[in-house]
Parts: sequence; C-alpha cells; structure tokens
Amino acid sequence: MASGLAYDRLCKSKMNISVLGSTGSIGTQTLEVVSAHPKKLKVLGLAAGSNTSLLKTQIKKFRPKAISVKKEEDKRAFKNIKNVQVRFGDKGNIEVATLKGVERVVIATPGLAGIAPTLAAIAAKKTICLATKEVLVAAGELVTSEAKKHKVSLIPIDSEHSAIFQALSGRSEKEVKRIILTASGGPFRGKTVKDLKKITPAQALAHPTWSMGKKITIDSATLMNKGFEVIEAMWLFGVPLSKIQVVVHPQSIIHSAVEFVDGSIIAQMGASDMRLPIQYALFYPGERLPNNFRRFSFFDKRDLTFDEPDLKTFKCLDLAFKAISKGKSAPAVLTAANDVAVEAFLAGKLPFLGIGQVLEATLSAHKVQKFRNLDELLAIDEWARENAAQNVLKFSK
Ligand SMILES: NC(=O)c1ccc[n+]([C@@H]2O[C@H](COP(=O)([O-])OP(=O)(O)OC[C@H]3O[C@@H](n4cnc5c(N)ncnc54)[C@H](OP(=O)(O)O)[C@@H]3O)[C@@H](O)[C@H]2O)c1
Repeated sequence: MASGLAYDRLCKSKMNISVLGSTGSIGTQTLEVVSAHPKKLKVLGLAAGSNTSLLKTQIKKFRPKAISVKKEEDKRAFKNIKNVQVRFGDKGNIEVATLKGVERVVIATPGLAGIAPTLAAIAAKKTICLATKEVLVAAGELVTSEAKKHKVSLIPIDSEHSAIFQALSGRSEKEVKRIILTASGGPFRGKTVKDLKKITPAQALAHPTWSMGKKITIDSATLMNKGFEVIEAMWLFGVPLSKIQVVVHPQSIIHSAVEFVDGSIIAQMGASDMRLPIQYALFYPGERLPNNFRRFSFFDKRDLTFDEPDLKTFKCLDLAFKAISKGKSAPAVLTAANDVAVEAFLAGKLPFLGIGQVLEATLSAHKVQKFRNLDELLAIDEWARENAAQNVLKFSK
C-alpha cells in the first residue's frame, strides 16, 4: 500500500514515472495511458532496447529527462537531441529506474534485464509497477524480501495478477480459500500432441485474444506463460501452490478471481486490453479514472466457458509445477532454458514440441541450489542457457 503521504501526492499533483521497455507492447501501452491522463502523469525516464526510431518519437512526445538504450553505439542516434541525458546498458536501465523525482517505475523489460533495475528502484524507494514476470519467477525471494525491507509496493501489471490484486482488495491471507488464475488456453487449445508436431512460428504467434510481444505470445501457446504466472502469484500474494487453481477460460473476459473461505468468489472482468491493468497500477490506490479504452458488454459474448488445463499435451505448465516443488534455483533455470528454447523455435531451429523437451532436459540436469544475490543468480542463468543450447541441438529437427 502507498503511504498516506504518497497517496495525498497522488491525488494532488502529477505523478512522475519511468518506463523500462518503453518501445515494447507494455511500454507503448503505458505511454498510451500517459497520453490519456496528461494532467496526472509525467514521464521522466524511458529505457528501451534497440528501436531507436520509436524511442526518438517517444522523446519528442513525452520530453523525458533521461533515456537509455541497450548498446553504446545506439546512443549515436540521439546526438542531435537536446535536453535529454542518454545512457546505455544495464547501468542505463538502473539510472532511468532510479531518477530523482520519479515515484513509480514500470518494469517491462523482458527477462533477467528487468531484475537489476527493479532491485535498484526498490532500494531508491520507488513504487514498482511490474509487468516483467521473470523478475519474480527467477528472483522472487530476492525481490520480495528487498521490497519488504524498503517498504516498497510491488503492483502487478499482468492482467491476471491485477485481477487478483483488485479482488483481494485489502483482505487478509487467512480469508483466502484459493486463487483462480484464468488462462485463455492459447491458439492450440483442444489440440493433441500429434496436432502440435508441425506448428510453425507464424501459427504460434497468432494469439486468439491478446496482442503481445513475440516471446510472451509463444509462452502463451505452450502454456509456459501460465506456469510463470503461477510462480509470480505465489510471490506477489504469498500463497502456496496448493491454493492456486489454473482454469482455462478461452474468452479472456474474467481475468482471474479469488475464492474466499466463506465460499464467495470475487472475479475481475473486462475487455482484453492491457491499458486497463496498467492504468490501475499507475494510479493505485487512487480513484478509478474514466478512459476510452475497450469495453466489455455482456451481450457481445454470451458464452463464458471454463475448462481444466491439459497438462499432458502442454507439458510446460506441468514443468512449472515441478520447478515450484523443486524450489530455489529451479524456476530461474526454467525461465533461462525457456528463453533459449523459444528463441530457437522462432528461428526455425526447434520444433514447437521441442520447447517442452528442452525445458524438461535442462531442469532434470540441474542440481537445485540456493542463491543469495543477483551475481549468484546470473551464474545459474548462464549454466542453464548453455545446457539448454546443447539440448536445442539434441531436440532440433
Ligand atoms: N505484452 C503483454 O501483454 C504482457 C502482459 C503481461 C506481462 N508481460 C510481460 O512484460 C514484459 C514485456 O513484455 P512485452 O510484450 O512488452 O515485450 P516486447 O514487446 O518484446 O517489448 C520488450 C521491451 O523491452 C525492451 N528491451 C529489450 N531488451 C532490453 C534491455 N536490455 N534493456 C532495456 N530495454 C530492453 C525492448 O526494446 P526494443 O524493442 O527497442 O529492442 C522493448 O521496449 C515481459 O516480461 C512479459 O512477460 C507482457
């Protein structure tokens, strides 16, 4: 929860934010939310990878104080732009995340690149609006304990976690019977292992209900994304796996729900539009503000359906459950191996079903261990990537 002082500030003046991953799917939608509320939000920092032309357009529109790009040579693209500090690399991400005057930082940088700026922003007492699920999947214990230590809020942006966050609305842990995490089921819901043998990247990238970045779209098709979300929910809401149920809900209207001990289920519903959870995270615990984002009408979709996930066909979700029960470094190994496998699949070097095979082989070769800091985590990540790369060769076509 924001302190009383922070909440007062939220109500009275513009809130200053930094957006990491500003040229991506979440980043651009965050900037659309800023454009929808120009009197309430001000962008002070932007960080991106290598899409310098879009970043230039964003600088012109939002006039940040500082920006960061992935590589030093990409700084050249900004040499004629005045009044903006240009940084690069991991250090640049950290500088943008900890800029003086910034109150909230949106973390939407994929993978482990999001962890260091998140930890730095927490230490600088910035409220975190978290989209990057790898931050909690790989480093959940590290990040949540730092957030606790510095009394910093982690506000979820992922639509499912935002839904749970909204449904919980200040209720205590002991009132929660279970968390119901909904999954669209991805483009291959109902398919068999045989059907999935010849899936191409283009087919896997055609998500039925959400428009997202490539990596997360493939993770949705394999159901790995849902596995990551289970782990993310465990850290965000402090619940054990036994209290989380995954329910396939293809229409993606109920974004998730909480069942309380009295039998009441509170679900959050809405159109499949990420700007809604982004806006909620940026203004929480302030009032809900009107916008012109997509709306859901009960008469648009009369059938809302629910199913159990098929863990046999979609083994990545089952592997996430296995990684949770192994604990410690196992979820970090799963994310690293998944990065490698998804990249190989998108490059045409690994069949769709090979993704699960690579993850299974890498996870079973890993000796689970504890890590105390980011450096130790990065060493585990490096091992997992090397092992997964060898497994890609083993399971390639
Ligand atoms: N998209 C969604 O609807 C959604 C929903 C829930 C959660 N998430 C999570 O949010 C995160 C971002 O997803 P996305 O779909 O927005 O991804 P995306 O479209 O691929 O965008 C990634 C962004 O990160 C930037 N980037 C890449 N490497 C970077 C680095 N080293 N330093 C700084 N910026 C870097 C990219 O820059 P360039 O493009 O300039 O290279 C881009 O701006 C993921 O972890 C995903 O799981 C996404």
